[in-house]
Amino acid sequence: MTTNAQPRAQWLGRWGFVLAATGSAVGLGNIWKFPYITGEYGGGAFVLVYLACILAVGIPVMMTEIAFGRRGRGSPIDAVRRVVNESGRASAWSLLGWMAMLCGFMILSFYAVVAGWSFAYLWKMLTGVFAGAGADDMVGIFVANNENPLNLGFWSTLVVVATMLIVGKGVQAGIERSVSWMMPGMVVMLAILIGYGVFSGGFGEAWRFLFSFNAGSLSSEGMLAALGHAFFTLSLASGAILTYGSYLPARASIARTTLTVAAADTLVALMAGLAIFPIIFANGMSPAEGPGLIFMSLPLAFQAMPLGTLFGILFFVMLSMAALTSSISMVEATVSWLTDNKGISRRAAAWGTGIVLWVVSTLAMLSFNLGADWTLAGRNVFDWLDYLTARWMMPLGGLGLVLLAGFVLKSEILRDELGLSPRAHALWLFAVRYLAPLGILVIFADALGVARI
Ligand code: PFF
Ligand code: NA
Repeated sequence: MTTNAQPRAQWLGRWGFVLAATGSAVGLGNIWKFPYITGEYGGGAFVLVYLACILAVGIPVMMTEIAFGRRGRGSPIDAVRRVVNESGRASAWSLLGWMAMLCGFMILSFYAVVAGWSFAYLWKMLTGVFAGAGADDMVGIFVANNENPLNLGFWSTLVVVATMLIVGKGVQAGIERSVSWMMPGMVVMLAILIGYGVFSGGFGEAWRFLFSFNAGSLSSEGMLAALGHAFFTLSLASGAILTYGSYLPARASIARTTLTVAAADTLVALMAGLAIFPIIFANGMSPAEGPGLIFMSLPLAFQAMPLGTLFGILFFVMLSMAALTSSISMVEATVSWLTDNKGISRRAAAWGTGIVLWVVSTLAMLSFNLGADWTLAGRNVFDWLDYLTARWMMPLGGLGLVLLAGFVLKSEILRDELGLSPRAHALWLFAVRYLAPLGILVIFADALGVARI
């Protein structure tokens, strides 16, 4: 292994890590995925399980990941290996790092397609494509945008190139700056949309849909989806948070940082739900529309509200930025691993990764046109990438990490790193030893049909 002569990069400002981690967390997962899977799995009960998973699994896992990153000061593979070696245990645990890195890469392969939708919709907003369109036309516009592989491929390629340009520039210049104005902007835009929703006639129904927790029973599939989404939305077990944690200065409080990021992420997701479902219900659309849900509903609202085109443009600018601040975090693990271990420059690492990424993301893109029939067990490439990562790889990686932290490592290592009060530490330890593993195992067992609950 070659070592770098320079000290490892660190975040510039006191808020650098929080901003970057929030930028990673808040993204298409909140605004695109959360509403559409909530719609597919029937609302309230799904939302409740998702929130429980954030608290019981997501927050302890995020603290653990940041602690590993800061202690090991490296990419997931190197950091986990170092921390494990420090406890005198076998390096086989660094497989967890490999899986995380692969996972971030797989996510970006389909995420680039969705981010491409966002850029395409920004363009449509700017060029007035939605003028006079009704609910049915919106469906047609979404379908037409997907049908031509050259069109769709153009946008996903643009996302891959933009991601690699930013990552190639480096931690501070590329990542830190963009997030500081984008997050508040997103919250304001969503607040405007919620305000519109309040007067659209669909708000009460939307509220009940999201928050009436007795909304029937939730399927095992839905519980697994809720668990997977808790990982996805917080960028866990995909290398992103761990690698960002490796740039965290020694003084920063891991617990406080984690709570801030998780709270911001949850707030944006719930706001997105409250912004989108009123439009769905007021226009008689189906909440179970699938991945096109926000793209078919939001332009309707922008069209109907005063200054709607302006707001629409701002919204899709913001959504595209939110997507990019997440996508860069998905490859940061790979790029930092390549630069640390292979003696190549950050820029070369970024472009090398980008080429492979472009190939896989193109396959995912083709799922919406030429490759729609390339299915296995009913899933196309896009679906498989999403399904494997969110349902299996992330929860399994998270399970491995908490078990490692809770039972295998010397207890002082992470205690030092976390620096919590004795009571808070006991709570974290309880969560990583019992709460999170049992939560994950129960949902897995249920989904596999081993034990119906
Ligand atoms: N958390 C991001 C979102 O909600 O859009 C998605 C994500 C980012 C997943 C980074 C995984 C990751 F490593
Ligand atoms: Na998120």
